[in-house]
Amino acid sequence: MKNVCIALLLIAFSCQPAFSQTRQTIDFNKNWKFAKGNPPTASAPWFDDAGWQTVRLPHDWAIAGPFDPTLSGETGKLPWKGEGWYRKSFRAEASWAGKRVYAVFDGVMAFPRVYVNGKLAGGWDYGYNSFYLDITALLLPGSDNLMAVYADTRQHDSRWYPGAGIYRKVQLIVTGPVHTAVWGTQITTPEVSEQQAFEQFMVLPNPRLWSPEQPALYSVKTVLRKNGVICDEYSSSFGVRTIRFNADNGFLLNGKRVQLKGVNLHHDFGALGAAFNTRAMERQLEIMQSMGCNAIRTSHNVPAPELLDLCDRMGLLVINELFDKYDAKADVLPFTDFNEFAERQTRNFVERDRNHPCIFLWSAGNEIGDVQGNVNGGFAKLQAVVAAFRKYDPTRPVTLVCDNKDAAAMRHFDYYDVVSYNYGRRYALARQLAPQKAVIITESASTVSTRGFYELPLPAKKTDFTHSFQISSYDLNAPWWAEVPEDDFRWQQEDPFVAGEFVWTGFDYLGEPTPYGDWSIQESGFKKEDLPRSSYFGIVDLAGIPKDRYYLYKSVWKPEETTVHILPHWNWAGQDGKPFPVFVYTNGDCAELFLNGKSLGKRCKEPQSENSVARYRLMWMEVPYTPGTLRAVADQNNKIIGENGRRCRPNSPDTRSHHPPRRW
Ligand code: GAL
Repeated sequence: MKNVCIALLLIAFSCQPAFSQTRQTIDFNKNWKFAKGNPPTASAPWFDDAGWQTVRLPHDWAIAGPFDPTLSGETGKLPWKGEGWYRKSFRAEASWAGKRVYAVFDGVMAFPRVYVNGKLAGGWDYGYNSFYLDITALLLPGSDNLMAVYADTRQHDSRWYPGAGIYRKVQLIVTGPVHTAVWGTQITTPEVSEQQAFEQFMVLPNPRLWSPEQPALYSVKTVLRKNGVICDEYSSSFGVRTIRFNADNGFLLNGKRVQLKGVNLHHDFGALGAAFNTRAMERQLEIMQSMGCNAIRTSHNVPAPELLDLCDRMGLLVINELFDKYDAKADVLPFTDFNEFAERQTRNFVERDRNHPCIFLWSAGNEIGDVQGNVNGGFAKLQAVVAAFRKYDPTRPVTLVCDNKDAAAMRHFDYYDVVSYNYGRRYALARQLAPQKAVIITESASTVSTRGFYELPLPAKKTDFTHSFQISSYDLNAPWWAEVPEDDFRWQQEDPFVAGEFVWTGFDYLGEPTPYGDWSIQESGFKKEDLPRSSYFGIVDLAGIPKDRYYLYKSVWKPEETTVHILPHWNWAGQDGKPFPVFVYTNGDCAELFLNGKSLGKRCKEPQSENSVARYRLMWMEVPYTPGTLRAVADQNNKIIGENGRRCRPNSPDTRSHHPPRRW
């Protein structure tokens, strides 16, 4: 690309007599006081909070526990339901007189009400979204002030652990009366929107394009002047790239096809809870990238803005998602007027995020029954959300993520741009009815396993689980609606029009311990108290340690790097002579397995096999356990590319896998 035309759209408040002042962005996260409960006068400046806990935001009041076995494992058995208050004393500078002051909250779980000096400044009604309040009129410049925030999660419902409290950062923004609005710039390259207060076009000669390989970033500084005096300065980061979907050729970035090798990520960080932590996020993304992942879906809600900054910088593409099933099961949104609610939530979401080059697709929501059944005005609601996306960002495509394949017959996809389906090649009917639309597998696999746990015999079918509350890491188990990784690899090979996949999930998360969810009590007679409290879906476990599957994905997603990974461990104390299946994940075509130096034969991938698994993994089904060393040597076109081994460590504690299988 030689030159690119940048359209800079600026929304500013109308000019007042100007002061010579620019903006201050104040970190407002330290020295908060916190207590659970709802004391009646907690918003009052004179309220005595001396006995409260001192906390630093972001803060998740529930992650400290304690775990309560009687609570639902679906939401992590943690005490997140309830009310809580945060209070912060702060000094408003005398120089703030005549200025505007905004409090920007990246996310409060849930239904926050914000008070300044005892008076209600405002609130918000969706725990995952960012919002800001103009608190100017309630402030006392030149004196001490008190901000109090009430959060109430009792009305919030969830299918996973949502966290509780002010779990993302808070900032104060102090500007002159004439200023760029919060999230007030829109930079597009080079599309033009019609609507607006100021628009400016610039030509950027010889731009460096943003891509996963070279995520080049630029920034635009917006300077507002009146009669030569600077009223405001505002910096926005952006990247120059083109995005396009093609029905038969998937997703094109800068004119070239990029196969989406994506993962879904929930918002919690395991033991750190839902409180956002930039380094924890960065580490998750690094681990995903090291596997060859190039894309993230923010399932199923507005992410912390820092996630998008990281993806911009690291070169990860993003599907940015607004809602989960709001119809019945999950976010259970509190709207009385859906259109008003949807417009307001979409506005904040899109205005906050639209300058990020990493975002290539907006998702209006996940598996929304109202839409897929067209009940309760489902299509009208879909239309309202999609219209709001298009209003605030006419430059990016919009999708809705579906799971009901038959619902495609009603053509809900006519309302949005890209067809997205979860699991089981369910996109087939939509593809047939709308061959002009691109297709993404927005949730693939949902394979379940516990890192380092192996159980025999191998499952005869994917839903063979035992009562051990651990799931064998032979990577052959998935719930009934889902599949093993190789099925999706194969479908993408056979359906090259598919733009790519997003695995459920990159990391384990708190809650949703399928197949040991609450529903399993009825099926199998478990006691609720015995059920686990975190997912088994992750390619990487809750602590950030890769499971075996990580290497299977790496072998396919990052073929340029050598992968030779053997499973299981080789510490079967007391099992001498007993046969164990051994699998090898490699980017090679074949591998030879050696036990204590003796060849057990060479196996090659079977690209034409009817069995998806045989196409991508190498299997020796009966290797007699002999203490010592198991070694695999992999080759590609008969040329050795690498090797790896498993060594028996006598007395290793890693002999957990000896539970007799108990099936229900
Ligand atoms: C999907 C859903 C995800 C998760 C997943 C588990 O249908 O969208 O949120 O529940 O199933 O397989």
